[in-house]
Amino acid sequence: MTQQTWNPESYAKNARFVSDLGEPLLDLLQLVPGERILDLGCGDGALTEKLVAAGGLVLGVDASAEQVQATRQRGLEAEVCTAENLPFVEEFDAVFSNAVLHWVKDQPTAIAKVYRSLKPNGRFVAEMGGFGNVATIRNALHTALQNRSINPQEYDPWFFPTADEYRVLLEDQGFEVDSIVLFSRPTPLPGDISGWLETFAQPFLCALPPDNWEACVEEVRDRLRPTLFQEGQGWIADYTRSRFRAIRRAA
Ligand code: BEZ
Repeated sequence: MTQQTWNPESYAKNARFVSDLGEPLLDLLQLVPGERILDLGCGDGALTEKLVAAGGLVLGVDASAEQVQATRQRGLEAEVCTAENLPFVEEFDAVFSNAVLHWVKDQPTAIAKVYRSLKPNGRFVAEMGGFGNVATIRNALHTALQNRSINPQEYDPWFFPTADEYRVLLEDQGFEVDSIVLFSRPTPLPGDISGWLETFAQPFLCALPPDNWEACVEEVRDRLRPTLFQEGQGWIADYTRSRFRAIRRAA
């Protein structure tokens, strides 16, 4: 399967709302100045910067070298690393993560690596796509691939669990779950849905030759328009989020 790639300029244009809407997660973190924080999936560093402004000693990690570069250009510390390959042992007071975990393939390994990265009593505070997230968009992408005799399951990279499902994944790796909630958050997009599709749905488009992408995006857009577009309001994506706070208890 082709990997999702991130371009900092198109991310800033089509996806700035991701970090803007992730800001309430900072309240759930309750950062104490001087704490060491790992920002897992820091993207272009927009929230990493807020964590630093709140007094955190923050390291950002991201799977995308381009996004790590964008974070460093803000003067912040960042390294290329995936969630499954975190090398840290009891280094952080908290691991913070916004809008990344739904891309992670091997959830048990990633959660175990987060657990190991935390000091005893450290907290894991995160938001991710939850069960039913972007279901209308996902269905339209599946239909577009099926119409071309391609099995969409082979290209669909997203994991959107229920709260109970993710609670079990966290508890299986030793976490005590303080809170986990699933909520609907219809999200106005900054432009046309085609920008969202080109930014977030690359693994589906990569099932096709590049000269078919534009027609596929058009077809998906036409299918979504009656449900997700409103005159005067524009495109509104059917986001559902899962937000949790879990603790690595002292042994
Ligand atoms: C999300 O943040 O909910 C999301 C990100 C990428 C694809 C789909 C949803």
